[in-house]
Amino acid sequence: MRLIESINDIKAIIRSQKSMGKTIGLVPTMGYLHEGHMSLVNMSVQHNDFTVLSVFVNPTQFGPNEDFDRYPRDIERDIKMAEAAGVDVVFSPSVEEMYPDGYKTYVEVEDITKILCGRTRPGHFKGVTTVVNKLFNIVQPDRAYFGQKDAQQVVVINKMVKDLNMNVEIVTCPIVREEDGLAMSSRNVYLSTEERKSALILSKSLFEAQELIKNGENRKENILKYIVDRIKSEKGAQIDYVEIVNADTLDSIGEFLKGRVLIALAVKFGNTRLIDNAIVEV
Ligand code: PAF
Repeated sequence: MRLIESINDIKAIIRSQKSMGKTIGLVPTMGYLHEGHMSLVNMSVQHNDFTVLSVFVNPTQFGPNEDFDRYPRDIERDIKMAEAAGVDVVFSPSVEEMYPDGYKTYVEVEDITKILCGRTRPGHFKGVTTVVNKLFNIVQPDRAYFGQKDAQQVVVINKMVKDLNMNVEIVTCPIVREEDGLAMSSRNVYLSTEERKSALILSKSLFEAQELIKNGENRKENILKYIVDRIKSEKGAQIDYVEIVNADTLDSIGEFLKGRVLIALAVKFGNTRLIDNAIVEV
């Protein structure tokens, strides 16, 4: 396995792989790998001849008061995990390599990036689509792998790929959870022991809401109220949003749940903002 930091070098490697007819899988990450990332890597290694794992903490997707500087980083550990999982190349460029002086070009998906997480994180998805677009141009993958935990990101990237006629298949992999239900996230390391315990209310309330739906509850307001009340009952939880939308388009739904719906939430515990979600077929 090789660690590559230069765009020209990875492009040369990709050219050579493609000339031999190899298929390329890309797993874009910001590093500090956990089992969620590794499930994407495993899928890519299984389904492609050559897997590139990108590790890049992308500054353009962080707001001015967000955690870019303190985002956890451990490239040595990431490299070991990638190698053990069968990754062929770890691509880890510097910020200057990706955004040299005078950088001016951004890619933006409209409307669906302004709701849910986009409401409290203006500009976040513009940073995501820009860097993902750059990674697609650099690596030219046949398939790219994303986690369902970032449900809105998945819908936004699919929209970009469709609208811009990009030649890449987007593969979405299920949320990976800790044994007690907490969705895996690199940001979980920020949580104190007490916050970690309180954060379990996110997955619990989502599981319980799914049970309610299974048992016949289909009024959106009732489900939302149930989840909000459960989360509010937990010490230190500050709700950013709890919403139910169409899972494929993020369009708002009517009074009653119908079709494939996404129950999505973002909640802060101390300074740590966590997201989680569930897709339900009604
Ligand atoms: O999901 C992430 O880790 C990031 O948003 C991504 C897709 C790697 C872009 O920086």
